[in-house]
Amino acid sequence: MLEKICETVAYIMKATERRPETAIILGTGLGRLADEIEERQEIAYKDIPHFPVSTVEGHSGKLIFGKLGGKEIMAMQGRFHFYEGYSMKDVTYPVRVMRELGIKTLFVSNASGGTNPDFEIGDLMIITDHINLFPEHPLRGRNIDYGPRFPDMSEAYSKKLIAQAKEIAAELGITVREGVYLGTQGPTFETPSEYRMFRRLGADAVGMSTVPEVIVANHCGIKVFGISIVTDLGVDGKIVEVTHQEVQKAADAAQPKMTAIMRELIRRS
Ligand code: HPA
Repeated sequence: MLEKICETVAYIMKATERRPETAIILGTGLGRLADEIEERQEIAYKDIPHFPVSTVEGHSGKLIFGKLGGKEIMAMQGRFHFYEGYSMKDVTYPVRVMRELGIKTLFVSNASGGTNPDFEIGDLMIITDHINLFPEHPLRGRNIDYGPRFPDMSEAYSKKLIAQAKEIAAELGITVREGVYLGTQGPTFETPSEYRMFRRLGADAVGMSTVPEVIVANHCGIKVFGISIVTDLGVDGKIVEVTHQEVQKAADAAQPKMTAIMRELIRRS
């Protein structure tokens, strides 16, 4: 594993001279942020040794190095989901590579189903904490010395970045919610009873990504900030059929607000 990571990192460091300390995983809702990256340099996943390759509809994934909010950043366009069949090691491989590249802060986004009855479709939820319900733990197996065998998770999402993001949202006149993101494997959306169960467990929103990457980032000592776009509602009386297209549409509509907050937070962080 470590040897592979070293080979991956050696390739990337040879391919670019950029040495960012900030990384972004461009999940649903942040895709357009990629267009704003300046002085860009791209490396296709398929060219990077040991890097998993995206399976999503014709999208070949890539790393984008460049400038955003005046900062050197590295963005992952295309993330790996457990439901696609990747192992947890693959899903989180890029985060370990980030650690070796010197990344200190990771920004993530996703789309989710709101289980908090106060939420509306299109709301932005700053992720304050998560609940891991994936069937396999990304740190299962021999511990890599990037962090302790039993890592602390008492502040999985940086309180400082959350406070800064709230300040920025207020300045920009953008309403944001806060809440707990529950990560589950998918690929099914939830039955009404499952949404109800997740609510009772303490979730404000449920989705199929992010949690594995955030766990590994914490293990590596990388600070995390995450926002979720509520694209559908898993709330009694408001549950309707959900499709991927509707999720995309709702995420797209909320994207400018999310992008504005992220860009400014990156500038100030
Ligand atoms: N459930 C799980 N994942 C999701 C949802 C949902 O309702 N919406 C977007 N991603």
